Amino acid sequence: MKNNFATNQQRILVTSALPYANGPIHLGHLAGAYLPADVYVRYQRLKKRDVLFICGTDEHGVPIAIAAEKEGTTPQQIVDRYWADHLDTFTRFGVSFDNFSRTSAPIHHETARAFFKVIYERDFLVERTIQQFYCESCRRFLADRFVEGQCPRCNKEGARGDQCESCGSSLEQTELINPYCKVCGKTPVLRQTKHLFLKLNEFQDRLQTWLDGKKEWKENVLNYCRGWFNEGLGERAVTRDLSWGIKVPVEGYEDKVIYVWFEAPIGYVSATKEWADKMGQPDLWKKYWLSPDTKLVHFIGKDNIVFHAVIWPAMLMGHGEFVLPADIPANEFLNLQGEKLSTSRNYAVWLGEYLSKFPADPLRYYLAAIAPETKDADFNWLDFQIRNNSELADILGNFINRTLTFARKQFAAAIPPRGALDARDEEMLQTLAEAPAKIGALFERYELRRAASAIIDVARFANKYFNDQEPWRTAREDRDKCATTIHLCIHAAQTLAVLMAPLLPFSAEKLWAMLGHSDNVHDQPWDGCGERALTAGHALGQELILFSKIEESQIEPELERLRKALAAMRGEPVEETKTTAPEIKPRISYDEFARVDLRLAKVVKAEKVEKADKLLKLELEVGGEARTIVAGVAKHYQPEELVGKMIVIVANLEAAKIRGIESNGMLLAAEDGQGRMAILSPQGAIDSGARVK
Ligand code: MF3
Ligand code: ZN
Repeated sequence: MKNNFATNQQRILVTSALPYANGPIHLGHLAGAYLPADVYVRYQRLKKRDVLFICGTDEHGVPIAIAAEKEGTTPQQIVDRYWADHLDTFTRFGVSFDNFSRTSAPIHHETARAFFKVIYERDFLVERTIQQFYCESCRRFLADRFVEGQCPRCNKEGARGDQCESCGSSLEQTELINPYCKVCGKTPVLRQTKHLFLKLNEFQDRLQTWLDGKKEWKENVLNYCRGWFNEGLGERAVTRDLSWGIKVPVEGYEDKVIYVWFEAPIGYVSATKEWADKMGQPDLWKKYWLSPDTKLVHFIGKDNIVFHAVIWPAMLMGHGEFVLPADIPANEFLNLQGEKLSTSRNYAVWLGEYLSKFPADPLRYYLAAIAPETKDADFNWLDFQIRNNSELADILGNFINRTLTFARKQFAAAIPPRGALDARDEEMLQTLAEAPAKIGALFERYELRRAASAIIDVARFANKYFNDQEPWRTAREDRDKCATTIHLCIHAAQTLAVLMAPLLPFSAEKLWAMLGHSDNVHDQPWDGCGERALTAGHALGQELILFSKIEESQIEPELERLRKALAAMRGEPVEETKTTAPEIKPRISYDEFARVDLRLAKVVKAEKVEKADKLLKLELEVGGEARTIVAGVAKHYQPEELVGKMIVIVANLEAAKIRGIESNGMLLAAEDGQGRMAILSPQGAIDSGARVK
């Protein structure tokens, strides 16, 4: 099968779309172009390949110029602020750029002007005189979004000179009904102006042939391009009447700037040059850009497809020196709680805000698990909480925790020796040996959803192995076997640390240290990481919680803020939602529900748990079987009240030690927002042990 996997011979140059420096980073950005790129790069580094990860802020364009005028400041001040802000939040999220540059950097101005000149000199630009809106009171031409009006297609107000947000159509500004100047509100007049146009039409055949060879690219990307080809590529203006931007390097155009979408992608080249300068080897960038052996991969969101898959390659072909993109794995959009994001209305989750409350890895995990790879995805706070708690904490974290706790208690926190292997041991080892190639192939294909679940599957398998081998039993009956089991569990933990390093870099580092390693998990080799032998007697490190559970109380304020933003957006009154019930969790299948074994149980004895003012210890009778559970109901019930009562319990919940008492089940009780609690009981006479469904 033909694939587009990277090879050891290639140099891999990875870029993420340059974010506009006019607002903070939100989760939509991350899911589209940043997390997938970072995971890919981290994986390639573990594969010991020559990989370089480039990004930077996109600092020109009309929105930034408008924002500056509105705030009464300069564009430079705005972009300075957001460049620093983006770099900071990306870093805290673990995005491991080799260089995070900016398009206002002198090296970019130089590179972009030189590029433009080459395209001009090769005759791929043509001068056209056009009619454009001019604001007499502001005394300037109104480029793109500087003019707004009524949309000629959907008639909605507030359509911008280049696009209507309501219906999504791209517009020519002269089509706008009742146009007005975005800055002063006056009606503009039409004036003649001249611009340089890229003769994109001349590239159509070459582009089509080139893209025909990209069979393994994502279908959504190829589809967009086909759409463009069907319409036929036309000439596109690549200069603007603006003062903020890169001056056009052509005589007669001194007072115009290069269109932002023409110069921004050249930022990938400039950022690589800047990196090479910082490395003290100014020519090093050539190794990436000037060689056909470079695998250039652009990570973007779907709104950027035409620019990266059609216009930018045409520019590169026209320029002639640089390598063309080898892949453009564009993602679809991320919605939020079932609605479209709106940054201007604050209906978004901002990365900086998220990171002030939660760690990075659970978000990296969740965004991977729901990645908008083939269709739009939905970020849902409750689902985020559930997947963190049930997958990261209960499966992955729990496996690590029980393994290391066991090793500490039974083997003095050192790796026990491995003895004779039984069939299950062999199976565990085989699973670990096969995991790197399997998960690696998913990373090569940018399939984060499947990679995330494949990592959890390894942990799930290891958990089952732990259960099946019953080390708590063999600890008494067969020490050698117990040692082998725990040796293999630590082997699994070590493998998992490397396997999860691309996706969960912070937790992988923590786990690596917990395993008693002093080197860096991100320097380990991916190949063979499942077969790397462990040294018996090697001392384990300090145990830490790998993934904390996220409480409902932590996500409720986030939901509340979004509910308010949504209401404001729709012009609805903002109702206080204090008294409403918490949101219903996402649907589950009947089979998922049926795994929960609910039973009636009779309370035989009840007593307070010492030094725990919330807990009662209940002795139960469940269909003739005796059970003990610990329940957090002491604030609401006296022990005497409960004796003789019939209650409902989850009978197959895993045992938990609470204050030294082993609790074998959980009673069902309802709680409301007023701090009230009620234990559930059957209505009518029925035997204990009866199944509840
Ligand atoms: N700033 C653009 C956006 O956020 C992306 C620019 S990508 C580049 O949509 F290639 F042009 F740099
Ligand atoms: Zn004006």
